[in-house]
Amino acid sequence: MVVSPSRPVATDRRSMMCRGLLAVGTAAVLTGCDRLPGGRPEARDVAEAAAMRGKVAVVRVGCGVCHVIPNVPGPRGTVGPSLAGVGNRAFVAGTLPNRPDVLAAFVRDAPALVPRTAMPPMPLDAEAARDVAFFLSTLR
Ligand code: HEC
Repeated sequence: MVVSPSRPVATDRRSMMCRGLLAVGTAAVLTGCDRLPGGRPEARDVAEAAAMRGKVAVVRVGCGVCHVIPNVPGPRGTVGPSLAGVGNRAFVAGTLPNRPDVLAAFVRDAPALVPRTAMPPMPLDAEAARDVAFFLSTLR
């Protein structure tokens, strides 16, 4: 007489396989749904959040006192140039390459980069300056 333990084992294997396939299927569906234009969703969310923080900082420190800045509430000063389309420019402040790191340094302490500029140093920490630069790069 042979007592086979194979049936319960097989059932176990089958149910494990089913669970495995279900997990893979669910992951595939989720990944598919997350694939939206504009890159990986996490990267897009991070970029949007940085731009949003930058915009809030622009309002807080009052860049609008001297600049017209699209989509930013508050004053629309004309002491400095309009920042509309600044994200498309090759250079800012005449001579500085329009790179995120340079822009961040400039908005924080313009005279350190352009000694005779009329733009004053602004009360932004390094992180806020990066966010502001990121926001400016979205003005296209
Ligand atoms: C007191 C007035 C004043 C304030 C406040 C001010 N700016 Fe300026 N800004 C200027 C002037 C004037 C210029 C033009 C001089 C120059 O380009 O060096 C300028 C130039 C710039 C430029 C270069 C624009 C280009 O097209 O070349 C950027 C970018 C900029 N400012 C961003 C900001 C941001 C962001 C803030 C707030 C954090 C800010 N500014 C606050 C006066 C100001």
